[in-house]
Amino acid sequence: MDSEEVSDHHIDYPALWEYVIQAPHCREQYSVHGPDHWLRVERNGCILAARTGAKAHIVRLFALFHDSKRLNEGHDPGHGSRGGKFARELHGHFFELSDEDLSLLIYACNTHTEGVHHDDPTIGTCWDSDRLDIGRVGMRPSSAYMSTDFAKEIADYGTTQPWLHLAETYLDDPISHHLKYRNWGEN
Ligand SMILES: [Fe+2]
Ligand SMILES: [Fe+2]
Repeated sequence: MDSEEVSDHHIDYPALWEYVIQAPHCREQYSVHGPDHWLRVERNGCILAARTGAKAHIVRLFALFHDSKRLNEGHDPGHGSRGGKFARELHGHFFELSDEDLSLLIYACNTHTEGVHHDDPTIGTCWDSDRLDIGRVGMRPSSAYMSTDFAKEIADYGTTQPWLHLAETYLDDPISHHLKYRNWGEN
């Protein structure tokens, strides 16, 4: 299967998200590295992909997996590689990627804490999507840490608000997207 044949239609996002959220983890419901964060990273990625040339389906999968295997909320070295390994384990079950796309996804997960900038638009967009969500811990995004010109523009502006509509290509409701799993963990 080449990458031209792969579309979002091959990815069962709802089932995949449910599975990953329920998998063993250390996250609290409102964890700074938990599902709320993943959803904001996904939304950032869908906004950025409109202009960066990134493969949106890879960025969306990165959003879900990159922090999915944290053992704690601190430095946690190796959590990116564990997330990448988890993505490889689930490949073929909830999603099917070309070899090239699977490599991109796993590389982006593995290196998202160590890497600074990357020229590949998909990898750069993955990392930028994560770093644009730094506001959740009271920090302002910095354009110095962004790989893509569009993410630099958003970081300098300070919020994604003016560009939320760009995510409508992929998300039903970009404004409330990050609240989708708000009740996760409650019985
Ligand atoms: Fe991370
Ligand atoms: Fe993250």
